[in-house]
Amino acid sequence: MHPVILAIESSCDETSASVIMNGKVLNNIIASQTIHQKYGGVVPELASRAHQQNIVSVVDEAIRTAGIQKSDLNAIAFTRGPGLMGALLVGVSFAKGLAQGLKIPLIEVNHIQAHVLAHFIDEPRPAFPFLCLTVSGGHTQIVLVKDALHMEVLGETHDDAVGEAFDKAAKIMGLPYPGGPLIDKYARQGDGTVYRFPDSTMPGLNFSFSGVKTAFLYFLRDQKAKNPNFVEENLADICASLQRHLVHMLMSRLEQASAQTGIRSIAIAGGVSANSGLRQALADTGEKHGWQVFIPDFQYCTDNAGMIAMAAHFKYLQGEFCAIDVTPLARMPV
Ligand code: KG4
Ligand code: ZN
Repeated sequence: MHPVILAIESSCDETSASVIMNGKVLNNIIASQTIHQKYGGVVPELASRAHQQNIVSVVDEAIRTAGIQKSDLNAIAFTRGPGLMGALLVGVSFAKGLAQGLKIPLIEVNHIQAHVLAHFIDEPRPAFPFLCLTVSGGHTQIVLVKDALHMEVLGETHDDAVGEAFDKAAKIMGLPYPGGPLIDKYARQGDGTVYRFPDSTMPGLNFSFSGVKTAFLYFLRDQKAKNPNFVEENLADICASLQRHLVHMLMSRLEQASAQTGIRSIAIAGGVSANSGLRQALADTGEKHGWQVFIPDFQYCTDNAGMIAMAAHFKYLQGEFCAIDVTPLARMPV
């Protein structure tokens, strides 16, 4: 079967490797770094060191569980950016060494494009063109996906990413990092209509989340002045209200984007697409407007090499390889 590609992801705090064979992702090995929890956020230097420690065993496991030999590989793919420079360097260097040793080509992958292309790992696959709301710890974008390798950003955040808003709000409440999944968990037991937060107005299809974070900080400060146990006593309702608000901000722009473009094939991608409130809202809004909705499998929402492998497959078919002296990019447009 052809092509067989090994993909490596190391842009943030997940060391991951995946083998794709003829467009089918065979595995998705992920070593998550837990060291960052005690610091309340990803510490770049520690992320690089953990990638160094994990990368050999993660790649070996991907090769082994795919039932192949390294000599079966036709190309090595890696995340070029965007991401943390020191973290990216580990994956890029490893990929270069392996590609040179095996005398096979290298494929560079844009991490944000790969989040979108995670939709092609499993059925049902969206037809082009479609809109994708990419929501992660580093990005919040509405992307017009013209084909696998051509995407246009229609709107994006002007400050914090929505995942950052979840994580920072969680930190303010004293929850451990990453707080997004915890807010989601507590929100399931709460009433999202109890507390209200201000919406920020941004031109066009753009977002701003830094105002929500500040409003949330002052809201808790004022409430805690009246009741020091406010957070503990109302955690579920606070989480549900905040989540409902953030999801509403995302969904209102997405509805606007669909109305403007006339595209009713709508996908979500990135770590925050694991959020149950967002998934439900997308399903409900989709039903209201007759959208065809695409929600990725949980394992392909947060950072993973399976999506890098999928993107690499498309690039391989187009003959898009890169030079051995390629360097990582902390910032990389879609
Ligand atoms: O895509 P991702 O793994 O890494 C980046 O490229 O940033 O996204 C991580 C982000 C974090 O902010 C995390 O809190 C958020 O995704 N996240 C969630 C949930 N699961 C992950 N946010 C809200 N609800 C969730 N269930
Ligand atoms: Zn990501």
